[in-house]
Amino acid sequence: MSHITLNIEDARSFLNEQPETLQKQVKVLHKMIHDKTGKGNDYLGWLDLPKTYDKEEYARILQAAKKIRKQSQVLVVIGIGGSYLGAKAGLEFLNVPFKKNKLEIVFAGHQMSGSYLNELVSYLQNKRFSINVISKSGTTTEPAIAFRVLKNLLEQKVGKEEAKERIYATTDKKRGALYSVSKENGYEMFVIPDDVGGRFSVLTAVGLLPLEAAGIKTKEILKGAKDAYTQFKKTNLEENEAYLYAATRYLLYTSGKKVEMLVGYEPNLLFLNEWWKQLFGESEGKDNKGLFVASAGFSTDLHSLGQYIQEGERHLFETVIKVSSTPKDVLIPREDQDLDELNYLSGKPLSYVNEQALKGTMMAHKDGGVPNMLLTIPAMDASTFGYLVYFFEKACAMSAYLIDVNPFNQPGVEAYKKNMFALLGKKGYEHILK
Ligand code: PA5
Repeated sequence: MSHITLNIEDARSFLNEQPETLQKQVKVLHKMIHDKTGKGNDYLGWLDLPKTYDKEEYARILQAAKKIRKQSQVLVVIGIGGSYLGAKAGLEFLNVPFKKNKLEIVFAGHQMSGSYLNELVSYLQNKRFSINVISKSGTTTEPAIAFRVLKNLLEQKVGKEEAKERIYATTDKKRGALYSVSKENGYEMFVIPDDVGGRFSVLTAVGLLPLEAAGIKTKEILKGAKDAYTQFKKTNLEENEAYLYAATRYLLYTSGKKVEMLVGYEPNLLFLNEWWKQLFGESEGKDNKGLFVASAGFSTDLHSLGQYIQEGERHLFETVIKVSSTPKDVLIPREDQDLDELNYLSGKPLSYVNEQALKGTMMAHKDGGVPNMLLTIPAMDASTFGYLVYFFEKACAMSAYLIDVNPFNQPGVEAYKKNMFALLGKKGYEHILK
């Protein structure tokens, strides 16, 4: 049974043709995905992951997470792009905003700010900390520099032998600089399978180790992903929300909408948005094609982007995430004097007001020429997170195949690196500046 619903009624009138007309093509592409005959077919390992994940490695993840919680107050997760956004999205999605985890998770190596790393080094001086360094290639500059600095700090604090017990590496099973460093030093290692690309790797040790260490029940995440795996094997658009979403956004694109905004009304969704932007942006933005993906948190951003969305260039559509039930809420109190004129809301929960904001905004944006899709999720819990991850991954593969691009490579990401290496004087890049 599906854990989510997708309502596309507020998009239909903007489409040149309806998604149902794509049913035949979707079936062909579905077969191409499952038979692994399409572009980038070496990277479809994520597809069966909810069923075929390595159970032995998962048992080691659970053990390592326990050990980290015992050893440390802080876990530093080092990684960038797909090697960090999934864990960050899960942590935010599943965490209570003002309650600290028993184990604090901090991130590093997701940018190259000296000021950030300097502050982090000072912060860690008096803390017991462990490191989970994550890089599939094992050669990415940002995490490699952060790891060198933080590994040195840890070794200075606790000695080389003890540091070895507190460093966990998630990388390729036999290649790359991180693999070599980890092998040489005897760090515990977790594998990112060859056929799973960075942005599709949340359901491997990349996401599962930091999330489990943070006290999140990753078994529930995997359970949700497995439900999604079954649900999104169906080929009919009326049964498969991932394909309906992919088909609708494709038709909005071909009907002239060039920007998709993912919108949520809960602040804990903000990093799901960031993960989603990488997933779709890096998978589809190729060969001069693809929707530009953006995001917003409402009602906050209605007071910044709201004006543009309502009346600016008409090249946008929105995918709105609605959370059906929030376990905690606040009732609006009554006041005898009603000076702030809020008594008409007294006794109402804030979630009710938030929901009316969502409804009113969707109506206004549609009237202003912005199509909407509404994705309703039951709750912000671990199984829904796993389900959503798989939903978006499957939708992304279908979306990219609809515009005929390879979803699983990212050749454009290399361009900045070459220039940066040349400017830094790295051997082999001298010719670029000539
Ligand atoms: O999706 C991808 O493959 C990328 O975004 C990578 O995750 C990112 O570039 C980090 O690469 P690596 O894990 O090799 O350090």
